[in-house]
Amino acid sequence: MRAPRARPTIVSTASADSEDTMDTAIVERSTARYAKAIEASKRVRWEIDKDVIRGRQFDTARKYMPDRLAKIELFSFANKDEKRFISQIQGRTYSNMFGMIERYIGAKILEVTRGHALGDQVVVESLVRFTDEELKHQELFRRLETMMAPAMPKGYTFLPQPNDVANAVLSKGTWAVLALTCHIELFTLDHYRQSIDRDPEVSELWKDVFKYHMMEEAQHAVLDEMEWQREDTRVTPAQREQGVTDLIDLVAAVDGLLQMQAAADADYFMTVNSRQLAKDEIDALRTGFLKAYRWQYIVSGVQNERFLQILGAMLSPKQLERITTALAPIM
Ligand SMILES: [Fe+2]
Ligand SMILES: [Fe+2]
Repeated sequence: MRAPRARPTIVSTASADSEDTMDTAIVERSTARYAKAIEASKRVRWEIDKDVIRGRQFDTARKYMPDRLAKIELFSFANKDEKRFISQIQGRTYSNMFGMIERYIGAKILEVTRGHALGDQVVVESLVRFTDEELKHQELFRRLETMMAPAMPKGYTFLPQPNDVANAVLSKGTWAVLALTCHIELFTLDHYRQSIDRDPEVSELWKDVFKYHMMEEAQHAVLDEMEWQREDTRVTPAQREQGVTDLIDLVAAVDGLLQMQAAADADYFMTVNSRQLAKDEIDALRTGFLKAYRWQYIVSGVQNERFLQILGAMLSPKQLERITTALAPIM
């Protein structure tokens, strides 16, 4: 995590004439990016039933989570059927995780939108569309759970409660919440492009869900970036320092949820699997689920090049070092 320190400028209050002209140009460039997000949002807009589900059901003969994201190589003890089942458990959790995360994201973007309410109406429209899309995504992931549940043996539980998680996340400062959000939206794009789209054995329906999701998330990632940078121009150095602390706390809280769900999913596997696992296989199963979830929801995102560029431009080497040190046990 090293990048030259350069303060991002989206809105400035400088008063000299030449600076005014420069600031106007920056604001216009920024408005153009928001306008572009609206245009893309309208172009890719989809409906849950008509475009994504199209009357299909999940085919349990197929995998859900692609091998690369599922870290399937860690489950070398498992036979082909067991690996497919592990991929289906992870795929169900992946869908539920997004349904859960998007509760807080929608609420946060709603709050951020209020700050623009009487300002640039292009910005307002782009953010209203963002929130509207996250509401639709939550509905999509709730639907998915009702479709995946009957196709799998009973006993699966998704433990994190969306509103509990949202309240915990939203108790932190805006700088850190937008940082976490930008990280999530960026890894969503990476996951689809680098893994989900490339695995030919993944269920077509499951793949389509994350394809359509990614198409709208691409605009969210741009908007997150601009809103996070805007927030960064408003905070004092002390507030930014607190933002780093909050971000570290948020990542630790995410890791707590992952440990809980990884344990629940490993237990579910063992309860319904037809063969009893040996002690070393149980250890590998538990470690495998946790490592896979950490990769999916933390590690893959903090390795995203764009995320590192944005973060690196905002923070001092010492602040970046704090984050790197905090992440070390998870990485
Ligand atoms: Fe979403
Ligand atoms: Fe999103």
